[in-house]
Amino acid sequence: MKSLLEAQNVTRIFDSGLLSKGHTVAVDGVSLMINEDKPSITTIAGESGSGKTTLARLLLGMIQPTSGSILYRGQSLTAMDRRARKKFRREVQAIFQDPYEAYNPIYKVDQTLTTPVRKFGLARSREEAQQRITDSLRMAGLRPEETLGRYPHQLSGGQRQRIMVARALLLNPRVILADEPVSMVDASLRATILESLVKVKRELGISLIYITHDLTTAYQASQNIYILYRGCVAEMGSVEKVIKNPKHPYTRLLVSSVPLPDPDIRWGREGEIEAKASAPSAPVKEGGGCKFSNRCPYVMAECRQAPPPLFLTDDDRAVACYLYKAGAPVSGRDMAKSLARD
Ligand SMILES: Nc1ncnc2c1ncn2[C@@H]1O[C@H](COP(=O)(O)OP(=O)(O)OP(=O)(O)O)[C@@H](O)[C@H]1O
Ligand SMILES: [Mg+2]
Repeated sequence: MKSLLEAQNVTRIFDSGLLSKGHTVAVDGVSLMINEDKPSITTIAGESGSGKTTLARLLLGMIQPTSGSILYRGQSLTAMDRRARKKFRREVQAIFQDPYEAYNPIYKVDQTLTTPVRKFGLARSREEAQQRITDSLRMAGLRPEETLGRYPHQLSGGQRQRIMVARALLLNPRVILADEPVSMVDASLRATILESLVKVKRELGISLIYITHDLTTAYQASQNIYILYRGCVAEMGSVEKVIKNPKHPYTRLLVSSVPLPDPDIRWGREGEIEAKASAPSAPVKEGGGCKFSNRCPYVMAECRQAPPPLFLTDDDRAVACYLYKAGAPVSGRDMAKSLARD
């Protein structure tokens, strides 16, 4: 198997700012892999502040890891020459949370689309450029005649989001990272945008990394899921396993708070857990134990001593929790590779 995009044991630490001396470990030893030969949809989920956007920015090369590396087609982003870097920039596209920020309000949206065509030399003539633009708009589910020639404020939030999809498609990418626009669009709109991304995967063979709070759409669209808790992978595996039968107490908490559309899924009662309110007064020392231990209803003595490694609970799922220590410990990298292969 060839890896297309890969995070290898990546950590990113931010200084907390001028007034405090502390720091935030936004992403903590995360490994993730996308298979070059098999287009897939991979979800990254977790509550607000769990490190999803930071991981996306790392994968896009917008920020550098504090340790670990990001590889594209087996090559570290930091070791790339200009040509490889340009190819990476074209082939890995992003759709970000708030598309309004991506627009310049004084220019028509056309500019958002013509600029990349020009910058990457994607068309030999005006006609060809125009053709490419209208094709991508249609692929993103927009009618060119209703969108071209307009200013950003003359479009709906959903249309602006779709223009971002069209812009990403223009460049013939291999991977699209979509950081969920929770703030912008309502649930039904989110579902239709996701639908067009699923179509893009199916018809154009583009892989998607889908970053979301929404486990319902994650379950419907993706094959694999990574659950982040305070920068660490709590659980990773096939969505079938992770969402239908969550194991990590944190994943169970996330799943139990979401009404899933599948009647097979039982949440509540037996499976449901009550997490304790986050207890900031007694923080777990960095590196001192499981970051979820303060909230975990199943906390054991060992949870406070050392952070749990990932334990295999199934062929296609691993859980970072001592409740599952009967399973073989597995490294994030090996597990990421195994999920990408399946
Ligand atoms: N540039 C930065 N400087 C300092 N801290 C940062 C920076 N970017 C992110 N953080 C911190 O890192 C942590 C992870 O943030 P991140 O934006 O990745 O979370 P998220 O999972 O995307 O959250 P949300 O679901 O709200 O979008 C947070 O504690 C955040 O405050
Ligand atoms: Mg975010």
